[in-house]
Amino acid sequence: MTLAEKLGQLQQLDGDFPTGAGRPEQFEMVRKGTLGSTLNVRGAKNVNELQRAALASRLKIPHLFAFDVIHGYRTIFPVPLGEAASFDPKAAELSAYIAAKESRSAGVAWTFAPMVDIARDPRWGRIVEGAGEDTFLGVEFAKARVRGFQGTDYSQPDRVLACAKHWVAYGAAQGGRDYNTTDISENTLYNVYFPPFKAAADAGADTFMSSFNDLNGVPATANRWVMTDVLRKEWKFDGFVVSDYTAVMELLNHGIAKDESDAAQLALNAGVDMEMVSRFYNTHGEQLLKDRKLTAATIDEAVRRILRVKYRLGLFDKPYTDESLEAKTLLAPEHRKAAREIAAKSFVLLKNDRQTLPLRKNIDELAIIGGLADSKEDVLGSWNGDGKVADAVTLLEGVRNKLGNNTKIRYAKGCDAKCEDTSEFNKAVDAAKDSDFTILVVGESAAMSGEAASRSNLDLPGRQLDLVKAIHATGKPYAVVLMNGRPLTINWVAENSPAILETWFAGTEAGNAIADVLFGDVNPSGKLPVTFPRSIGQIPIFYNMMNTGRPFKEAEKYTSKYLDIPNTPLYPFGYGLSYTNFQLSNVRLSSKQIAPTGSLTVSVDVQNTGSRDGTEVVQLYIRDLVGSVTRPVKELKGFERVALRAGEKRTVTFTLKPEQLGFYNAANKFVVEPGDFKVWVSQSSDGGLEDNFTVR
Ligand code: NOJ
Repeated sequence: MTLAEKLGQLQQLDGDFPTGAGRPEQFEMVRKGTLGSTLNVRGAKNVNELQRAALASRLKIPHLFAFDVIHGYRTIFPVPLGEAASFDPKAAELSAYIAAKESRSAGVAWTFAPMVDIARDPRWGRIVEGAGEDTFLGVEFAKARVRGFQGTDYSQPDRVLACAKHWVAYGAAQGGRDYNTTDISENTLYNVYFPPFKAAADAGADTFMSSFNDLNGVPATANRWVMTDVLRKEWKFDGFVVSDYTAVMELLNHGIAKDESDAAQLALNAGVDMEMVSRFYNTHGEQLLKDRKLTAATIDEAVRRILRVKYRLGLFDKPYTDESLEAKTLLAPEHRKAAREIAAKSFVLLKNDRQTLPLRKNIDELAIIGGLADSKEDVLGSWNGDGKVADAVTLLEGVRNKLGNNTKIRYAKGCDAKCEDTSEFNKAVDAAKDSDFTILVVGESAAMSGEAASRSNLDLPGRQLDLVKAIHATGKPYAVVLMNGRPLTINWVAENSPAILETWFAGTEAGNAIADVLFGDVNPSGKLPVTFPRSIGQIPIFYNMMNTGRPFKEAEKYTSKYLDIPNTPLYPFGYGLSYTNFQLSNVRLSSKQIAPTGSLTVSVDVQNTGSRDGTEVVQLYIRDLVGSVTRPVKELKGFERVALRAGEKRTVTFTLKPEQLGFYNAANKFVVEPGDFKVWVSQSSDGGLEDNFTVR
């Protein structure tokens, strides 16, 4: 390979997003062998056209097509945060598999997913793209999503190459402001932020994306410690790293590179193999070699990593996409069916006074209120792949599909998600007054979360709370349906509204799935993958915090607390109700004492004590009481979805192994330390049945 051809493999450029076609310049570069990859070029025909140009090049190295397939390609599944609320990694695996199948049929071989950033700050808009605040849950979803995308062999025509992103600590942006600096101890990186990435790598994810953020003074994209020492040397990762969009160029703004060539040198020497969109490797690579600021071996190694993955993708054997598959694969009926089922699993019933929900289907007159109730665009959420607004089912449509013509439905918008204008509140109030029941849909528009969509205020946007109060004041029964990409501070609603169903942004089948749950065809089973604060002043607030030297004590002044609000969240991590009730009893451990290398089982009986079938997510938490570094007051270490018929009782058994009992110590070595542990089995991170054991 000539140097230009090598550097070409290190370059990725952005195609034409709206059409999915390659740009004229890109065809030219590909023919010359100086462009190895694009993002956003998609659609079997577009892809094959550019691929033909690649195979007309001197070395005939196939082109690699990437796309952000975050929660579906054409069939859109719930946003990843919502999907994590299912506590069902199998569901995530299935949705990733369907997304992979659709993507590959459209020529896309590489997805920029899963996003496995731990996010403990709901102000950060990208919290919507991951599995929430918890490392254990994050690990389980990271593995499941990688398996779903890649299978055991990602050269297969229904699989795609995964990309764990954003490496690393992007979710810890200071103040929750996107792209902001992060400053986190190495120990917290090892214990909290690294594990989902490690799990993704171990599950076979062969690419990582470097994050935008400055990390402890060295921007991730120039950070040799994370890119090479941890990822390659410690974890033995043999795939390649792509920079985030213009992240190499942004090293100039970070003030760590003095010019373009310096930026190229820093990123490539750190271990970032492929440059997305900016072109510093290509423009300055030759001179950097001459100046000995870069070695030929470094360039060769980056090229080798990229070509190795292209081989593993099977592109050398089968560079083209079968154009006959795409139309019948996208939005296949079984994909929509899965999207509907997974969406229903992602909903979290936050409140349900006096069994307000489920609603009966023979209701005579129903009001549906809220701009989000009939917005096809918003239910698709942010990063909706190649999803089409026209395919989406709104809540209004879903309820109509469910009830047919027997119920008179009055739809009144009230206001849109921004809710600056209250002039239509009256119509909404009249609709509620005239009807037997009101479904009131409030929350955020899809654009209010996702990339570059941080918020400093987590209340219902605009005057939406006034709309809720106006409906409440009618005195008629109603339920609130939330759509949002992050936890919201909804104290008034939590206190006053009779029922609240959290539906996130549920994807193509949103409306049908919501109707399934509102009318009781599906019993809600989701649990919060992230804490809902009472106030933004509590942020960061997450359940697995440290105890502090002065843990909160009622009526003692010099303890860790706020003067004006409780320490507790509005809704804790792991919380979610059902239309039935479950009772846990009879916790038993296989042993009260184990060796550091040993394991033990924790069993509990769970009974459905209500009169409807339902599914409970039984959760297992531990606390390591004394450690060589401080340990969280609780840590999730197991969960299981248990489907129980009314009255049915079953035993659930968890196994605690060294990998669950240990942590990274001050030297960042994984250890299981002797000492006493508490263990809880519970229905959320709050409370539960408690026992204890000793590691000795
Ligand atoms: C920027 C985002 O941070 C990243 O997640 C995404 O994959 C790239 N843009 C490509 O669209």
